[in-house]
Amino acid sequence: MSREAAQLVAKSIPPGKPCLISFPAGDTPKGMVEEFVRMVNGGDLDISHTRYVSLDEWVGLGRRQRGSCAWFNHTHILDRLEKPFLEYHLIDGEASDMAKECQRLDTFIAQHGPLDLSVLGIGMNGHLGFNEEGVDFSLNAHVIPLSRTTRSVMGKYFDTEYDLKFGITQGLAQIMAAQKVILIASGPHKADILWKAFRGPVSNRVPASILQRHPNCVLVVDAEAGSRLFSYC
Ligand code: GLP
Repeated sequence: MSREAAQLVAKSIPPGKPCLISFPAGDTPKGMVEEFVRMVNGGDLDISHTRYVSLDEWVGLGRRQRGSCAWFNHTHILDRLEKPFLEYHLIDGEASDMAKECQRLDTFIAQHGPLDLSVLGIGMNGHLGFNEEGVDFSLNAHVIPLSRTTRSVMGKYFDTEYDLKFGITQGLAQIMAAQKVILIASGPHKADILWKAFRGPVSNRVPASILQRHPNCVLVVDAEAGSRLFSYC
């Protein structure tokens, strides 16, 4: 799953042409980003014209807190690249003014976008980034209360107990405007939500279902995550 996703990412980055890409944080993309870093450092992939933007962040956390999205981006990607991105933009979850932080994200995406590639994971409730149940599909960057499901699983990312109540995220309008979307998922715990998102109705009760309307969305799943979606998995 990780290798396939990394190969697709590499194919979506045109050599020598400016482009804008975004990866999720979390457990799912770890193998993919490792392969991505290996390709870049080995000279197989040129990202010197590529800009990178983060997808989401826990409000209240910054790059110093292990488990934050900024921490993930630095530790697993940015600090390991021997040949860096042309530029990157990470959401600052510790910013004092979250409305301005949303604006900063919107401005970066508006200036350099739309996204050429958005790689996404899927939450247990079908969220994309922090576009939680009930989200308005037409939004750009915004701050949103974390759902009960997200709050119940978030402990796995942190070695400290944080009382986090909000997330800041790219909005679905920005994600849907991406030239290409790759949704990655692994493990049996993702099988049901993938089925709801891609075989159920398009509804903001399951935000990922909006991807059924994306003209260029690829699912990359392992056999366990795909077990309900695809009979041959
Ligand atoms: C997290 C993040 C998402 C991520 C998703 C799945 O809470 N907000 O961006 O894609 O949930 O995470 P994981 O890959 O750890 O299952």
